[in-house]
Formats: sequence, structure tokens, C-alpha cells
Amino acid sequence: PYPLYAELRKTPVTLQEDGSYVVSTYREIVALLHDPRISSDRRNLDESFAAREPGVSGQPPAFIALDPPDHDRLRRLAMRHFGPPGTPDRVESMRPELAAIVTGLIDALAGRERADLVETVAYPFPVTVICRLLGVPREDEPKFHGWSTEIVETIGPGEDDMAERQRRRDRATGALGDYLGDLADARLGDPGDDLLSGLLAGGGEQGGMSRAEVVTTATLLLVAGHETTVNLIANGMLTLLRHPETLERLRHEPDLVYGTVEELLRYEPPVHFPATRVALDDITVGDTTIPRGAPIVLALAAGNRDPDYVSAPERFDPCREANQHLGFGGGIHYCFGAPLARLETQVALGELARRLRNPRAVADPPPYRPSSSLRGPRRLVVDFDGVR
Ligand code: HEM
Repeated sequence: PYPLYAELRKTPVTLQEDGSYVVSTYREIVALLHDPRISSDRRNLDESFAAREPGVSGQPPAFIALDPPDHDRLRRLAMRHFGPPGTPDRVESMRPELAAIVTGLIDALAGRERADLVETVAYPFPVTVICRLLGVPREDEPKFHGWSTEIVETIGPGEDDMAERQRRRDRATGALGDYLGDLADARLGDPGDDLLSGLLAGGGEQGGMSRAEVVTTATLLLVAGHETTVNLIANGMLTLLRHPETLERLRHEPDLVYGTVEELLRYEPPVHFPATRVALDDITVGDTTIPRGAPIVLALAAGNRDPDYVSAPERFDPCREANQHLGFGGGIHYCFGAPLARLETQVALGELARRLRNPRAVADPPPYRPSSSLRGPRRLVVDFDGVR
């Protein structure tokens, strides 16, 4: 039930020992997500900061870490090619292809009675999807696993030394960037119908993305597409194992999966707080004035359980109506991959519920991944009586 979040919500804003301000109530988080006085790009606080921090291996920051106008320009360009091309229905049209991938992963569990569902389904599934979208050759997928995990697990505070974590993250980001740069160069000469070729089309001069921007955008999509959906699928399966009546209902009422996924984004969201913002001005929230330059942490997961926004917030209710959760953030940085993430999770949980016979968690709670901002099990070992 996250007692820390209940404690934090006693006031909308809490000043932490490290000087950052945590915002934990629903209404105030939503207001700040839409407030142009908070920035995702520290460099906008102070011009000289930009000169000091050129970014990893000289690459420009990805649009998740930029403010308008660059954010909007790059997001719009990426959006144009994402999906694949065009309408929102294009994501939906991928449902059969995605179902085939999950079916293959679950078929591989035949004959077994115990499996780690993170290793066998929740992780490989979104990796395969995002690699296919970007046009990454299948044999290179394992390399991504390494780099992407390293990048995510070194975000935010950890047990080891901060400088060493930063070095590890820079190394992994650099290696991934180099790889994607080479792939982009190959696509430039020989374009395909993949997203990377799409991002490269149009070139820098005609208002398209520069090569460097393509590399950071592709890195962002890969990491964001890799590391969040795995957690939603794993958090989702764990929550369903704790609510066997819903798991059973899903077998007979496949449409319940839509509400289930929305409720999971509220109840056990993968992103507990997004990248720390910075106040570009003094901002008064409730009784607190957050001073210009202060870091701001938006506690999305705490807002999702705010009793002033949602009734019975500690209850998992897949039939909840008008579920305006913060699982995908909000405002200009609202999750770009939301339609794809929803689709992937609907397909994965629907198939797992349908096909695993009598699944039981071997350890509850399971071991969690070490990141403080992304929450999800490192392993989710279940026993089951075969697959249907
Ligand atoms: C942004 C959550 C899947 C791409 C965000 C944000 C959240 C989020 C909370 C806001 C970050 C902020 O405000 O700083 C999730 C969750 C996912 C998921 C919970 C899975 C369940 C995906 C996928 C993709 C993706 C599959 C891409 C294929 C992005 C991008 C942004 C973003 C590019 C930055 C948007 C911007 O800055 O305008 N996501 N995401 N996400 N997400 Fe997702």
C-alpha cells in the first residue's frame, strides 16, 4: 500500500534533505505537468550550464530531456514516423503480429511447470517489438539487452558510488549510440520501411532530424520501449496472481483486459517518478514556494493513489470508470509510446491469463530491480500446471 506515499501526501509538497521538492498529490502533479515554469532541461536555467555539459559523447539530449521549442520539433518529427507511419490505428493493426510473438514465447514454456515470467515473456516481448519497429537485426537484440539494462539500472541513487554509476551509464549510452549511428549510416545508403529509415528521411536541411538527433531519438525509443513495458507486464502478472478472481475472469472475458491494463497503470505503474524537473521561476504550490533552480520530483505513483482524486485508491478494480491515472505522465511529455505500451500489455496479460494453468508465484514479493524511479520485479518465478 506504499505507506511512504500516504505520508508524503499529507502536504502536496515535501522538501527533501537533498534540496529537492517532492510533489505527491494528484491535483498539484497535474498542474505542474502542464506548467511551463518547470523544465526537463537544466540547461535552460543557466546558459553556461549548456557549455559545461555537452552530453554523452557529444550527442544532443533526447526530447524527453528537452523543453520547447526543440522538444516539440523533435517529438513531432518522431511522431510522424512512429506507429508505424500515420494513424493511431496503425498501432492497433499490429495486434495480430504482437499476439504471434507472445504465442511463440508461451509455446516455449510447454512441458515446464516453473518459469521466470520476466525472463521468458515480459522482457523478450517488448524488446522484440521495439527492435522490429526500429529495424534492428534480430541477432543484435541481446546486445541491446545489456546496454539498455545498464542505462536504466544506473539512473538515480543506488548503493554504489554515484560517479561510478554515471561512468557506467555513459559507457553504455555511448556504446548504444555508436551502434545506432552505424545502423543509421547503413540505412542512409539503403533505406527500409523501418522507423530508423523513417527518422532519417528528410535530413537535417529540410527541417528533418540531423543524424545526431536520429541517434538520440532512436536511443530514447529503444530504452523507453524496452524498460517500461517489461515492468508493466511483470507488475501486472504479479497483481493478477494476488487477485486470482480477476485472473480467472480474464480467461472468460477477454475484454476485461482493457480496464485491467488501465488500472495497473494506476495501481502498480512502472514509472514511479519521471525525470527530475527544475523550477525556472519561483513556483508556489499550496503553502510552499519552490525556489527557482530547485529540483522537482513528481511522484506519479503517489498521485495515482490520492484519495482526493480516486475513491478506494488501495483497491485494485479493473472495472474502474474514468480512470485518469498518471501512469503515462501528462502535459507535453505525455508518453509517446502509450498506444503501443497498452497494446503490448493487453496482448501479453491476456495470453498469459488464458494459457497458463493455475499459475502461483513462488516468492511474493519477488526480488525487485534496483532502480528507484522505475519499479518492477527483476524475476517473477511462477509454478503452473502446464500450458493450454
Ligand atoms: C514518456 C511511461 C512505454 C516512449 C513517458 C513518461 C512516462 C512514460 C511516465 C513521461 C516522462 C516525463 O514526463 O518525463 C511509460 C510506461 C510505459 C511506456 C509506463 C509502458 C508501460 C513506452 C514505449 C515507448 C515510450 C513502448 C516507445 C516506443 C516514450 C517517449 C517519452 C515517454 C519517447 C518522452 C515523451 C516526451 O518527452 O515528449 N513514458 N512509457 N514509452 N515515453 Fe513512455
